[in-house]
Amino acid sequence: MTTIRIPALGLLAALFLSASVQAAVDGPALYKEHCAKCHAETGQADNWRGYLYFARNFSSPDWQKKMTDSNILEEINDGPRIMPSYQDSLNSEQKAAIIKVIRGFGEK
Ligand code: HEC
Repeated sequence: MTTIRIPALGLLAALFLSASVQAAVDGPALYKEHCAKCHAETGQADNWRGYLYFARNFSSPDWQKKMTDSNILEEINDGPRIMPSYQDSLNSEQKAAIIKVIRGFGEK
């Protein structure tokens, strides 16, 4: 009996863990917390830090077209100029969720 029960419990635990990880990743909230102060809540860098630092306007159609998702990921990991690197401070799920938010700024 135990040989059947143990794997079943493991599966349940794995399901529970993956569900709670997914619930914890909230792209818009992460963007607000980490990125909005320079790129603005609109993604257009139309706030004082955005102007001061010449941060990127994510709503530009040209920019959206030229950047692939992996380009964006590279920038998040690198942190160009004054932007901090998020290489280690965000995990890949969080970065993917933020990239989705950035893509949303390009949709009108
Ligand atoms: C301290 C201000 C600051 C913060 C915080 C910040 N950025 Fe930036 N970001 C910048 C600046 C300045 C640039 C450089 C603009 C450029 O490359 O012309 C930049 C560039 C970028 C670029 C590349 C633009 C390009 O065309 O190469 C991406 C993508 C980006 N930021 C995403 C993010 C994301 C996502 C976050 C949050 C996780 C974030 N930034 C947080 C200031 C900031």
